[in-house]
Amino acid sequence: MSSIIYPNQIEYLESLRAEPDPLIKEMEEFARENRVPILDWKSAELLEQIVLMIKPKRVLEIGTAIAYSSIRIARRLKKKGTLDTIEKSLDNIALASEYIRRAELTSKINLIEGDALAVMPQLEKKYDLIFLDADKEDYEKLFYYSLVLLKKGGVLFVDNLLWHGYAASSKVPTNYRNSTKAIREFNKLFMNQDALWTTIFSIGDGIGLGVKI
Ligand SMILES: C[S@@+](CC[C@H](N)C(=O)[O-])C[C@H]1O[C@@H](n2cnc3c(N)ncnc32)[C@H](O)[C@@H]1O
Repeated sequence: MSSIIYPNQIEYLESLRAEPDPLIKEMEEFARENRVPILDWKSAELLEQIVLMIKPKRVLEIGTAIAYSSIRIARRLKKKGTLDTIEKSLDNIALASEYIRRAELTSKINLIEGDALAVMPQLEKKYDLIFLDADKEDYEKLFYYSLVLLKKGGVLFVDNLLWHGYAASSKVPTNYRNSTKAIREFNKLFMNQDALWTTIFSIGDGIGLGVKI
């Protein structure tokens, strides 16, 4: 996989990074060793800053994996803030549950088991912040469900919009063709919304940020 910024810039930023706490460090190592895709640490820090800025009461995450970003979000929530997070992989649900228990965040994080394509239409209460991080081929449908579930003034945070650099590249490996096509189509949709003020930032793997207007 390629990176969207120069390796020396990444090394420089790494050199400035404060030592993460032991659980976060362990999760990053676990994800690296077991090839579980999780949010890049720089994107995770941006997401935490957004949580600190907007102080959301209700957050929805689509794609929990091992609960790395869930834990990072939940730790930044105010007393009354809660996170609903949806995951369809049973293996990841088991890992996420254990990490959430170890982080002592079972009262803040509600892990919803199932496919977000089926779960989201059943959700009724709106959210202040939605983090979309599921299969790229599902992004378009999940985006429309997110628009419905996002409060006015709410923030949508989307990962992987530069997709390891392939979104903007003419050379895409065969196994990335479908996902790259899905991301390119999604980006056009994302950047052309009347109801959402959007930007794509070259942080991590490319972060889309939208505010519902
Ligand atoms: C990139 S990982 C999520 C990483 C996590 N947000 C983090 O940064 O720590 C994507 C996860 O979404 C799950 N997923 C993909 N499509 C989904 C869907 N339609 N519904 C629920 N979960 C989905 C996958 O099983 C995988 O665990």
